Amino acid sequence: MLTFLAIIAVAYLIGSIPTSIIAGKLLKGIDVRDFGSGNAGGTNAFRVLGWKAGLAVTLIDIAKGTVAAVPVVGFFKAHPLGAFPDMNEIALSLIAGMAAVIGHVFTVFAGFKGGKGVSTAAGMLIGIAPVSMLMVIGIFLLTVTISRYVSVGSILAAIAFPLIIAIRKYIFDLGQGLDYRFFDHWFVHDSLDYHLLIFGGIVAVAIIYTHRANIRRLFSGTENRLSFGRKS
Ligand code: G3P
Repeated sequence: MLTFLAIIAVAYLIGSIPTSIIAGKLLKGIDVRDFGSGNAGGTNAFRVLGWKAGLAVTLIDIAKGTVAAVPVVGFFKAHPLGAFPDMNEIALSLIAGMAAVIGHVFTVFAGFKGGKGVSTAAGMLIGIAPVSMLMVIGIFLLTVTISRYVSVGSILAAIAFPLIIAIRKYIFDLGQGLDYRFFDHWFVHDSLDYHLLIFGGIVAVAIIYTHRANIRRLFSGTENRLSFGRKS
């Protein structure tokens, strides 16, 4: 139990690192939450701080999810504080990744007002299911390129992930496709698909929820389009 709690706590604290807020303070002496969409995330860092800072913030936010889901779990497996949790390791990675996402959205270091969780959730899933995430990233980039709405790309990507998991399972079960599940983890586990499906569904619902203001703006025609280095 102690090991499980330590994994959750470390993952939450890693997720809580308020990358865009730190970048805003360091580069321009501002709180990015006072500008643009008001979100403490990579997209708003692009918008408010410029593309270089936006890219750096996004990559670090992605890394937070990957680190929480993979090396943190691996570290505590090698150095448990008590009994290592008697549960499926992929489920444990997903729980640790979710703790990082919760930390990113409700950061203890910035008044519990963080980002929308997209990059950190992507990082968690990249660490666990990289092949499926390549397709999801493709859908995200295509949507953003066509629409210039990052929020639309984020929402569609979040919905696409569990759908891709479900479709690939269907194809695999029919014995028709390449079993690329092998590449999606360092070991194949029968329950990989079910865990990814359940957590992917939870992530999709959570991301739609964190984008509720964006959805309202999209319907009223006032959503911000992607831009670089503008403050308003
Ligand atoms: O990842 C967040 C993105 O989907 C929307 O960000 O700043 O436009 O609300 P923003």
